[in-house]
Amino acid sequence: MFHMKVIKAKTHKEAGYLAADEFEKVMEKKADCVIGLATGSTPLPFYDELIQREKNRALSFSSVRTVNLDEYVGLEAEDPQSYRYYMQKNLFDHISIKRENILIPNGLEKDKETLCRKYENQIEVWGGIDIQLLGIGHNGHIGFNEPDDFFAVSTHEVKLTEKTRKANQRFFKSPNDVPKSAITVGIGTIMSAKKIVMMAVGGDKAEIIKKAFCGPVTPKIPASILQFHPNVTLICDEAAYMGFY
Ligand code: F6R
Repeated sequence: MFHMKVIKAKTHKEAGYLAADEFEKVMEKKADCVIGLATGSTPLPFYDELIQREKNRALSFSSVRTVNLDEYVGLEAEDPQSYRYYMQKNLFDHISIKRENILIPNGLEKDKETLCRKYENQIEVWGGIDIQLLGIGHNGHIGFNEPDDFFAVSTHEVKLTEKTRKANQRFFKSPNDVPKSAITVGIGTIMSAKKIVMMAVGGDKAEIIKKAFCGPVTPKIPASILQFHPNVTLICDEAAYMGFY
């Protein structure tokens, strides 16, 4: 492990609180900062905390720009399983963010190549991501960058592994409803973020945390590349932190 700062939180809720502290620091310095966001179960207390802090006037989203990591291919924005829907319900509907300041891949776009190129361009036009939130998959994926023989650099369409489809099955009515592919930012997009905050909670994440941060950097464990990022804060709850023992 190189530059990484590791913080142990007592609970999932506290992990969300501590992650919100990191974002608040960036938002305080730069009202129109660009923040990278993730979906999944891990960030939920983090989003609750951000909503609360804006209500308490500790921070404001009125000039903030957001970039999401990924979206399923083939789901409408209104589909309760889409990441757009997740973001609306868990964060955007409750804060002062402007619609035009939200960047999330359109899973229905037919021309995926143009979509991906425009996505990267928009991030560049906004001046890059100031702070990126990440969760981690059981196989070490970040965004939907799955284990592979190489690190995919920029935003692209990705076929989901059976492991990931299984892990996400719980959210769908039947296993067949789980989309087969997604659009995700690349490892290069993530590594270009000025600061990265990863949250990892639950004993089921301990093993992958150990592999990703105490083992070799390899595209077989995409999150391991974060060992080369100069400004990563990893926030674990007690169970995930056990991976370091
Ligand atoms: C979601 C994302 C994924 C999740 C990961 C962990 O936008 O990018 O990489 O962060 O699958 O998911 P949870 O938090 O549900 O364990």
